Amino acid sequence: MADKLEVVLKAHPTLIVAGANWGDEGKGKVIDKVLGFYDIAARFSGGANAGHTVFTPQGKKLVSHLIPCGLAQNKICVLGRGEFFNAELFLKELAESKAVLGVELPPIYIDQQAALWTPYHRLFENYIESVRGEHRLGTTNKGIGPLEAIYKLRLSPLVGYLSEPELLGKALKVLHEILKPIFESAGFKDLAEPAPEPEDVLKLLLGFAGDLKPFVNDAAFILEQNLRAGKRVLLEGAQATGLDAWWGTYPYVSSGNSAASGASIGTGLALSDLGASILVAKTLPTRVGNGPFPSELWERQKAMDFTKENPELFVKGKQRDEFLANLLQKINAGSASRAQMSQYFQVLGDERGATTGRGRSVGLLDIPWLLYAIRINRPTYMALTRFDMLSKIQSVPVVTGYKYQGEVLPAGKIPPPWEFDKVEIITENWQGFMESIDGISDESALPKAAKAFLKELEKRLNVPILLVGTGPARDAIIVRT
Ligand code: IMP
Repeated sequence: MADKLEVVLKAHPTLIVAGANWGDEGKGKVIDKVLGFYDIAARFSGGANAGHTVFTPQGKKLVSHLIPCGLAQNKICVLGRGEFFNAELFLKELAESKAVLGVELPPIYIDQQAALWTPYHRLFENYIESVRGEHRLGTTNKGIGPLEAIYKLRLSPLVGYLSEPELLGKALKVLHEILKPIFESAGFKDLAEPAPEPEDVLKLLLGFAGDLKPFVNDAAFILEQNLRAGKRVLLEGAQATGLDAWWGTYPYVSSGNSAASGASIGTGLALSDLGASILVAKTLPTRVGNGPFPSELWERQKAMDFTKENPELFVKGKQRDEFLANLLQKINAGSASRAQMSQYFQVLGDERGATTGRGRSVGLLDIPWLLYAIRINRPTYMALTRFDMLSKIQSVPVVTGYKYQGEVLPAGKIPPPWEFDKVEIITENWQGFMESIDGISDESALPKAAKAFLKELEKRLNVPILLVGTGPARDAIIVRT
């Protein structure tokens, strides 16, 4: 009998996987589940700010930042033009991947026209964040904003310049000349090391050129040719709708086209070749860095400090178990504060950033936000990750409406991001399930209340929920029909 998922995905020669919330939805796990039915994995957005944890079929752990998760399953990997490229970090990741997977890797293509990171991007980002002061975005410090901005200013060195030293040298000189007044400004001197001379940056980058050469190519053309030849392409998103530079909570966003629409911009595949997508939503969404988060349970800084100050709670063992059991009891008795609920989910979900290690703040399942993300991505399917986090909770608060300027907003509409603090959230309590659903991979094994929960959510979202994550293990995922 054909695999259930195979039957569903057969109809989609290309498939986009995008995030619904503010990143860290577990896109890697969803990608891992569907990858088997695709030949090529292509990244279309983000850069070294992303962090996906995936496992090889043999159970070996791979953390990818720049290289598509497809590497773990030996798929052809494409780093599209929409991905911001850091040569040093790529080579480091490549070496780490080889250490895990062995030296025989599948073909990897880096688009020769992707924006190339330089130390100037990092310095520029440090400068911007310091000037913003308390309004800082809380970036991952990977130079993502400057990579996009400098590209748009038509000043970016490109990956292909690595084999054109003269061109690269010129681009670095101009970039340095333009940013020099900033680097030399009085306010900046105290903050960071002096900016390196363009000649030194040239030397640094050319030092990577030889190792990169086999991978740099007209990746967009190769990708399209492969698609025409009948190969199936999975398009891996990074970050998420809430962090999309155009459709997220600007300015508290990343700088790429993280929503599904970015798949065409970031790979060069035509819109008519794309369409099918899975939008990945986290049962209890999280956010790191700053910016609006309507269903957030606790104050951002407090949630982040809590993680930093209590590392022992994030280590498996008696202390963690007791902490969780105590809070779970309070939650079910109805006496837990929102801060305590946040702490429970932060510890239970090990909510720490894969790239920065920062604590993630947790929010409630937020249907109005998801309806907005659905409006922007118009996905074919939803995937709901970490459903197991609701195990043993008797009554689950769910955000079902946004009240703004005295009215409940219609489905798909959100206020402008600068008005989010004026949103009043409407909450309903949904019946939870007292059994643990950890690791369940067959829908029929779910408790009745868990099935009813999914059905109700699906009804409100009006998009089929195809996949449901039930735990960290690779096979802890349900394919629904
Ligand atoms: P940047 O992408 O480093 O410029 O950071 C901008 C915002 O996006 C910050 O709030 C980051 O914390 C957030 N961000 C960027 N990448 C990720 C991610 O992969 N997961 C979660 N948040 C992210």
